[in-house]
Amino acid sequence: MAYKNIIVDTEDNVCLIRLNRPEAMNALNLDLLGELGEALAEAQKNDKVRACVLTGSEKAFAAGADIKMMRDKSFVDVFTEDLFTPQERAVKVFRKPLIAAVAGYALGGGCELAMTADFIIAADTAKFGQPEVNLGVTPGMGGSVRLSRLVGRAKAMDMALTGRMMDAAEAERAGLVSRVVPAKKLIEEALAAARKIAEKSAISVMAIKEMVHRADEMPLSEAVLFERRLFHAMFATEDQKEGMSAFIEKRTPHFRDR
Ligand code: CAA
Repeated sequence: MAYKNIIVDTEDNVCLIRLNRPEAMNALNLDLLGELGEALAEAQKNDKVRACVLTGSEKAFAAGADIKMMRDKSFVDVFTEDLFTPQERAVKVFRKPLIAAVAGYALGGGCELAMTADFIIAADTAKFGQPEVNLGVTPGMGGSVRLSRLVGRAKAMDMALTGRMMDAAEAERAGLVSRVVPAKKLIEEALAAARKIAEKSAISVMAIKEMVHRADEMPLSEAVLFERRLFHAMFATEDQKEGMSAFIEKRTPHFRDR
C-alpha cells in the first residue's frame, strides 16, 4: 500500500509506522489518520506482524490535531462527521501490541494518540501536553480521560487547564511513559521491545492486551474475574504446555500460537 503521510516498514515480525508530515510537525489530519487506520488494519491481517511501533520524527511525534483543518469547521460539521471517533476507533481495535515511540512534541491529539497505544517509550527530548485550552477548545481524542487515568487527576488537570508541557523525566515519574531513553536510541529500543514481545505466544500477548484494556472499562472485581477467566483459558493452549515445560526442562520455549 502506498501512503503519503506515513511510512510503513515491516521487518523481523515488527511493523514500524512513522508519521510523516514534517511540514506540519506531524499534525493529525484526516488523511494521515485514515492512512494510520489502514496500516494498522493491514498489520492486523498480516500474520508476519506480531507487534507494532508507532513513531514520528525527532522533532515531533505529533503536534496535535491539524488546527488548519479544524479552524473553519462548525459544530454541525464536526458533530455530523463525528470527528475523531472512527479515527480513534481504528487504533483501539488493533489487537496486536502497539508501542508509541515518542521524541519531541506529543501535544493534544498527538499525546492522545500516544496514550491510545499500549505503552509509550519516550526519548529524553519528548514533551507531552494537552494544550487545547490555548485554542479555545478541549481535548477531543480521549486526553482528559486517559491522561487522568495514567498520571492522576491533579497532573492531568494541571496540564489540560494551564496547557503546560511535561518533559520526559516528569512523564516517567508520573507514569505516562514506561521508560525514557536517549533520543538517538529511541527507535532501536522500541523495536527491541517489540521484537521481545514478538518472541512470545501471540495468544497470551493478545489476551494480556485485551485484559488490560477491558479493565479500563470495568469495576475492579469484574476486571479481575475477566483476567482470571482468560488465565484459565490459556490452559486450553499448546503454548501453555510448551511455556511451562520449557521452564521446567530449563530450555527456551518454542511457541506456536496454538
Ligand atoms: N496543526 C496544524 N499545523 C501545525 C500544528 C497543528 N497542530 N502544529 C504545528 N503546525 C505547523 C505550524 O503551523 C507550522 O506551519 P507553517 O510553517 O506553515 O507556519 C509548522 O507546523 C511548524 O510549527 P511552528 O513554526 O509552530 O514550530 P515551533 O517549533 O515554533 O513550535 C509547537 C512547535 C510548539 C509544536 C507549535 O507548533 C505548537 O504549539 N503547535 C500546536 C500544538 C497544539 O495546540 N496542539 C493541539 C491541537 S488541537 C487537538 O489536538 C484537539 C484534540 O484533542 C483532538
